[in-house]
Amino acid sequence: MSGKLTVIVGPMYSGKTTELLSLIEIYALGKKNYLVFKPSIDIRYSEEHIVSHTGLKAPAIKVTSSDELRKTFAEHAGQLDAIFIDEIHFFDENIVQIIEEIIYSGVNVFCVGLDMSYKHRPFKTTVQIMGIADEVIKKKAVCHICGEYKAVVSYRKVDDTESEIDVGGMEKYIAVCRDCYNKLTGRFKGN
Ligand code: ADP
Ligand code: TMP
Ligand code: MG
Ligand code: ZN
Repeated sequence: MSGKLTVIVGPMYSGKTTELLSLIEIYALGKKNYLVFKPSIDIRYSEEHIVSHTGLKAPAIKVTSSDELRKTFAEHAGQLDAIFIDEIHFFDENIVQIIEEIIYSGVNVFCVGLDMSYKHRPFKTTVQIMGIADEVIKKKAVCHICGEYKAVVSYRKVDDTESEIDVGGMEKYIAVCRDCYNKLTGRFKGN
């Protein structure tokens, strides 16, 4: 039987990693076999764990590319019930096909990532994985400006970079609602 693909998306601080950690705990309590992956670029809180903004964590295998993930998975072929991947937006797009192969080998896959960059543009890898998912959970955060529980975008407080990839936390990014994002950036005309 094929596995199931669950994708958890949303802006920064929306509880994506916390939700992934809860799912990992369910598998751990059930004594299931699983692997947890993170991209090696993410050195924000730890190189060897996935870590939430509140400090909750779980050990993880860091991989430099989707191909490294595929190879590590292949070493455990036939033994796994699930894999968990944090920060999927940092992966190259080949991860999409690799995840498809993993699901069809009967393993459940849980992915977490940003759906939008601070430039309000979809992150390609995340969006492609959402397109093939069985279930997409879209989370929101509390808007850092107005305090409403409707933040769907991450706003960059410091100078923009050329790349939309830039690891960081509160020193660089806040979660905001659409109205506050537009007030801060003036990007969309509105009425
Ligand atoms: P994500 O992986 O989506 O960035 P985490 O699961 O690591 O989120 O962290 C979620 C936690 O971040 C919340 O439980 C809360 O304690 C904290 N937090 C900080 N700022 C906010 C915010 N603006 N809205 C919601 N939670 C926030
Ligand atoms: P988080 O969703 O767990 O808070 O982590 C998001 C990571 O992605 C964090 O290291 C900052 C980074 N990031 C980017 O690289 N580009 C972006 O546009 C945004 C919003 C975050
Ligand atoms: Mg996170
Ligand atoms: Zn707001």
